[in-house]
Amino acid sequence: MITLALAKGRIFEETAPLLAAAGIRPVEDPESSRKLILATQRPDLRLILVRAADVPTYVQYGAADLGVAGRDILAEHGGQGLYQPLDLGIARCRMVVAVPEGFDYAAAVKQGARLRVATKYIGTAREHFAAKGVHVDLIKLYGSMELAPLVGLADAIVDLVDTGNTLKANRLRVVEEIMPVSSRLIVNPASLKLKREALAPLIEAFARLGRG
Ligand code: ATP
Ligand code: PRP
Repeated sequence: MITLALAKGRIFEETAPLLAAAGIRPVEDPESSRKLILATQRPDLRLILVRAADVPTYVQYGAADLGVAGRDILAEHGGQGLYQPLDLGIARCRMVVAVPEGFDYAAAVKQGARLRVATKYIGTAREHFAAKGVHVDLIKLYGSMELAPLVGLADAIVDLVDTGNTLKANRLRVVEEIMPVSSRLIVNPASLKLKREALAPLIEAFARLGRG
């Protein structure tokens, strides 16, 4: 049995066409089913549905053989115990530092001010600001980061941006780019050894179909 870990929502939606092109279809719609293990029409392949941030953990410990996770999530996880053979080129966005439109970020950094930064990406943000020599106090949030500077919780945020609509709607602007983000196929190294015959064609199909 091959187990593929996916997150509901964007990751599932953008991976589904790749799966379909590789001849894999879940037998139930994950958006409406409450099941967390979904069979596919291939008897040797099942999907498990986990939170986006938990995909690397399931693959690292071998509870899933494969998974699809954003580079943002992998950077935060650290990637230990994971083989990352492919950029699938899906769920593309950018990780950025953003501040309220009226906030002079450059001046604050120049003065050596200690900035309060709210983010879901504590590890990545810590590394980014340390490399730039910017002093920060990091505040962990689990979502809706854009709200934090509007209500005085933080001076800046580290978050994902795609169209820029969310930033614009909340009168925030990008001041630094941290990294381009897209989703990767991740593989458990032991699975790759033990199930190579079953996994190799699947990884090859993803490689042909991914747009990375
Ligand atoms: P959860 O619902 O568990 O909190 P989440 O909100 O991070 O997870 P999604 O919003 O589905 O889950 O995001 C999954 C992945 O898709 C992210 O890790 C990132 O790589 C990518 N992503 C997030 N937002 C965007 C976006 N606006 N445009 C493109 N890709 C995005
Ligand atoms: C993501 C991200 C931003 C938004 C950016 O949130 O956290 O808030 O998308 O996209 P935009 O630049 O196109 O507006 P998402 O829509 O996934 O909401 P959630 O993380 O709160 O579920």
